[in-house]
Amino acid sequence: MMREWEGESIVILDFGSQYTQLIARRIRADEVFSVILPHSAGIEEILAEKPKGLILSGGPADLTEENAPRLKADIFSLGIPVLGICYGMQLISQMKGAELEKTGHREFGHTKIEANTGTALFRGTPAEQKVWMSHGVRLKSMPEGFVTTASSPGCPIAAMNNDAEKIYGLQFHPEVFHTENGIEILQNFLFEVCGCEKVWSSKSFVDLEVSRIRKKVGDARVLCAVSGGVDSSVMAALVDRAIGKQLVPVFVDNGLLRENEAEEVQEILAGCLMTDLVFVDATDEFLEKLEGVTDPEKKRKIIGKTFIDVFERESEKRGPFAFLAQGTLYPDVIESRSTVGPSDMIKSHHNVGGLPEDMSFELIEPLSLLFKDEVREVGRFLELPAIQIERHPFPGPGLAVRVPGAITRNDLDLLRKVDKIFIDGLKRYGLYNEVWQAFAVLLPVRSVGVMGDERTYQKAATLRAVTSTDGMTADWARLPYDFLQDISNEIINRVDGVNRVVYDISSKPPSTIEWE
Ligand code: XMP
Repeated sequence: MMREWEGESIVILDFGSQYTQLIARRIRADEVFSVILPHSAGIEEILAEKPKGLILSGGPADLTEENAPRLKADIFSLGIPVLGICYGMQLISQMKGAELEKTGHREFGHTKIEANTGTALFRGTPAEQKVWMSHGVRLKSMPEGFVTTASSPGCPIAAMNNDAEKIYGLQFHPEVFHTENGIEILQNFLFEVCGCEKVWSSKSFVDLEVSRIRKKVGDARVLCAVSGGVDSSVMAALVDRAIGKQLVPVFVDNGLLRENEAEEVQEILAGCLMTDLVFVDATDEFLEKLEGVTDPEKKRKIIGKTFIDVFERESEKRGPFAFLAQGTLYPDVIESRSTVGPSDMIKSHHNVGGLPEDMSFELIEPLSLLFKDEVREVGRFLELPAIQIERHPFPGPGLAVRVPGAITRNDLDLLRKVDKIFIDGLKRYGLYNEVWQAFAVLLPVRSVGVMGDERTYQKAATLRAVTSTDGMTADWARLPYDFLQDISNEIINRVDGVNRVVYDISSKPPSTIEWE
């Protein structure tokens, strides 16, 4: 990917910690741009990012082993400040000649450290502070030129400095919320040690992208697909701001959307775009192809393929287009070039972005530098309405993966009604923004019930609400019992065809968020 941000940055070299992205997000929250590169990045790749400072992330490997990941680039020769976090600090020490030892057990969780508050990273923080540790290896000796700046009972060298060379190490994780003064410690590194300036903001990002898109596109035409989700809406609004009517945004109704969703999305986008939204009703085409299909992966493939067929037809009808704009985000970019950490495919995800490789467009991916929370901020800056920006994620295959087994129009209608009662209820109770995602699933089982004097034999629905930060892991949301009772009553009383409601209390892993 070409470098897009012209300014300075903090480069994070990734050793596979689950917190690496969090480091970048914390730094960006301080209005300093930050990029993540694989630990194997070469000097030129690193320098291309105009680094004011380097951070070596944590990682799951064990540096007492020979084949543990190490750096390719000789970063110490650059004269740029370096901060090693956990694994990163151990690596610095090892490179500087110190010995490491296994602790025999993994030190994990809250620890109190005594910090020397006269030293660069701890300035302005209390002498005793709580930090988040997670390591099974520690320094046996101090590398030459370094001094200890913090210690804990289990970890005598919990932090170290080499002021002359501007190299710093933290054995704990400053990026994690549980480290009480983590933000201040990182800020000391950014502003006192590296001399960074606060220049990264939604406004600077939008200004940069608008001029970049204009320059790249000239007077050509750009096609994009919008799903109604946050990413594609913000992407379309951004490209629209740059080139207005040269953009043709296509919205495909696949018949698998939620109650009134197609109308709402059209209305909202019509209010924020200068250009007209192309609306394609392909409900029949999708539902006919899905008839009788029960296998989840098959359903996903059919939906993905049908989407491409419809989209290709529209593009031929309305073309020619030189460019295709997609709402790819930064985590996808990191993921696709990651050299550490497995990312097994659990489900074949279908995004509106997953378009055919043989379409001859040049790609524009204006959000590819952003994390999800930054996309939301850019959306706010572009004045997209809050209900659009705060929308929960919704999967590309839509309600098809929420009706396990074969899909019928009748089941989709039932599910829409149940889902609407649940979501409206969450909004009414002020709970919608408290959860990462919430939805209903219509189960392919019937159960016996009694309503009035009558026996019923109808479908069961499950409600699913989860908390999460990125959808990769999730916990079931502890929704109040009173709320659940209210919603269950409302569903059973108002949705003819559903006589039982259950609440899904599985976490991810081992379950997934969606049911298929
Ligand atoms: P799972 O079910 O894999 O879902 O735990 C994780 C997150 O991804 C969403 N999801 C999808 N999003 N296309 C998408 O754009 C898909 O095919 C897809 N499948 C799942 C899901 O809603 C959750 O937020």
